[in-house]
Amino acid sequence: MPVRRIGRAACRAYLVSCGRTGEALLVDPVLDDAAAVHEALDARGLRLRGIVDTHTHADHVSAGASLSRALGVEYLLHEATESRLPTGRLRDGRRIEVGDERVEVLHTPGHTPDSISLLCGRDLLTGDFLFLAQEGAGRLDLPGGDPGAHWDSLRRLSSLGDDLRVLPGHDYHGLEDGTLGEERRRNPRFQDVTREEYVAWQRAVAAPTPDWMLEVIAANLGTAAAHAAHHGGAAPAPPRRGLDLGLPAGAPACSSGGSAGACATAASGRVPLLSPQEAFERLAGPRPPVLLDVRDPWEYGGPRGRHARGARNLPLGTLPAALGSLPGEAGEEVLVICKMGGRSAAAAEFLIENGRRRVFSIEGGTDRWAAEGLPLDP
Ligand SMILES: [Fe+2]
Repeated sequence: MPVRRIGRAACRAYLVSCGRTGEALLVDPVLDDAAAVHEALDARGLRLRGIVDTHTHADHVSAGASLSRALGVEYLLHEATESRLPTGRLRDGRRIEVGDERVEVLHTPGHTPDSISLLCGRDLLTGDFLFLAQEGAGRLDLPGGDPGAHWDSLRRLSSLGDDLRVLPGHDYHGLEDGTLGEERRRNPRFQDVTREEYVAWQRAVAAPTPDWMLEVIAANLGTAAAHAAHHGGAAPAPPRRGLDLGLPAGAPACSSGGSAGACATAASGRVPLLSPQEAFERLAGPRPPVLLDVRDPWEYGGPRGRHARGARNLPLGTLPAALGSLPGEAGEEVLVICKMGGRSAAAAEFLIENGRRRVFSIEGGTDRWAAEGLPLDP
């Protein structure tokens, strides 16, 4: 059963197809990459049979609902989802027909209550339930996350063979896949710990859910009321001037997600961009600009964080409250960076809308900054 990764987004989408009939199942499509879906289908002469999201994503807006409407196919999530957008719901053990092939649904909650893995012949699409090697797995501290359920789900895999190929929803170190046997040996989530130890470990590394992720979740749930529920049942917060990510009305979105955080791309495309090298050269110049890192503090520094040298941390969600003290009003240049360039674009747009004239977002964010060997501070 051919399984192909499609698109360029940091969130991985896959096409599972039947070699004989050309029917295909699309898994985890990203709104920003919808065009790649059409290209992949056309290039291979495939006919889409349905779309599955492995869970309600927090780090990118799914293209599932919009592609489902555009192409007239089913959009499926596990029955535990709170989303009102799917046209059908999946149960554990369900076999989805894709031409002559069968894709088996395994309910693997923990990252979210509705997380599933898809067994496609010798391939296992794990979404954010399981990543590769040191990436471990998706966060268990987002709304609905449950470390104990995740431990249970990992044990479910014991009946599956070592030679299965694991295809995750993200990888940040250039790995494409790994066998389940490899993951059992190298992935820290397979450490031999008790359920209680696993829960305690994951609670110890829990971090707050950033506001922008709550907005993405709300978009993927298809309901503003659900957004309020994730804020503890409070009334929806008033819109923050200029910090509207534009979701889900056609806004491009990407993410890095998983254990390391994520980005959602600003909607307007009006933000000037600099490459990390261009930004570095300006920072080394005679009149260096202000460099703002708009990620959350745990990404910026500490055991799991590092940042571009000289960057000041000002998380995206704090910008409206800090408006009066934000730099750039006197015409000085402001460069904004995040993990991959999504949040920085949103922040730059906000600054521009609030009167700052010389604002740039750094393309590819801290990930690309680091990949290009530019200096980092812990
Ligand atoms: Fe996720």
